[in-house]
Amino acid sequence: MAEILAVGEAMERALALLAGGDVVAIPTETVYGLAGDATNGVGVARIFEAKGRPRFNPLIAHVADLAMAERIARFDPLSEKLARAFWPGPLTLVLPQRPGNGIHPLVTAGLDTIALRMPRGFGGELIARLGHPLAAPSANSSGKISATTAEAVAADLGSRIKLVVDGGATPVGLESTIVKVEAGTLRLLRPGGVAAEEIEAAVGMKLLRGAVAGIEAPGMLASHYAPGAAMRLNAEKVEAGEALLAFGGRRAEGWQAVVALKNLSVSGDLREAAANLFAYMQDLDRSGAKTIAVEPIPFDGLGEAINDRLSRAAAPRDIIPSET
Ligand code: TXA
Ligand code: MG
Repeated sequence: MAEILAVGEAMERALALLAGGDVVAIPTETVYGLAGDATNGVGVARIFEAKGRPRFNPLIAHVADLAMAERIARFDPLSEKLARAFWPGPLTLVLPQRPGNGIHPLVTAGLDTIALRMPRGFGGELIARLGHPLAAPSANSSGKISATTAEAVAADLGSRIKLVVDGGATPVGLESTIVKVEAGTLRLLRPGGVAAEEIEAAVGMKLLRGAVAGIEAPGMLASHYAPGAAMRLNAEKVEAGEALLAFGGRRAEGWQAVVALKNLSVSGDLREAAANLFAYMQDLDRSGAKTIAVEPIPFDGLGEAINDRLSRAAAPRDIIPSET
């Protein structure tokens, strides 16, 4: 079983594992990541293996500072403005790679672009000490809900990895927002921990939406983040035997009879709801209810990313295999 060490005591052990081409689960401000040295093919391959990821999807390379990022990818004035406004933080930028940047091709699945992000906290320190970027998808087995606590990581991946660094519950609770910068335009590939409106306000331009050709962010496949129970969204009424994922002060009709109930945010705060989302989905899943009914959640701000994750969790499971 994986050892769980608190952030204050984990640094040396994490460095030794990464330097040896092994993987380590680390806290970030969004969700826990399963990290490997992005320049070491063995380390990167172990990430896919530990997750049981069926295909080699591109991973996000995490950097310690802007200088490291600029050695890996080409920044134009727009991407630099975004990095300065939101890093460290839950924004991932997809940018053209610099040839010879040392990133192992498994990280980018052979693409000529790369997804870069500068995480807050322990991850940033670890990357600076290692001196190499870390490839890190969410620390969950393929198709499962992303982990927002060290305990959730250990319960899922504990038999397959050696170390989980415990930084407590992740404050944002949703994966990063992914934006592709291309020829002076910005395309939203995945809504996430920074609201689209915030990005638009920072750069004074609208985000384009929808992938251009095929799947731009393969992790965005329809069925994803799937709990064992079925999910029923925008529930105004609860059916017999259902669990209820609530939001705000007004309850869906019939709520008194639910098998289990969790309220994402009693006050209707979308940040609080985002931070609670994955852990509460897991809690309700453990209640044994066949279906989790979800009350309507507004689409503004972080509501876009919350609704995105909920609709993936609710998607039919047998159409496309989940990938991240
Ligand atoms: O908050 C996060 O982003 C977390 C933490 C650990 O940093 N990481 C995360 O990684 O969510 P992952 O692997 O679960 O999702 C990465 C997404 C995938 O949907 C992948 O397809 C997309 O990023 N991606 C990676 N490189 C890309 C590229 N060059 N072009 C387009 N999409 C890319
Ligand atoms: Mg994931």
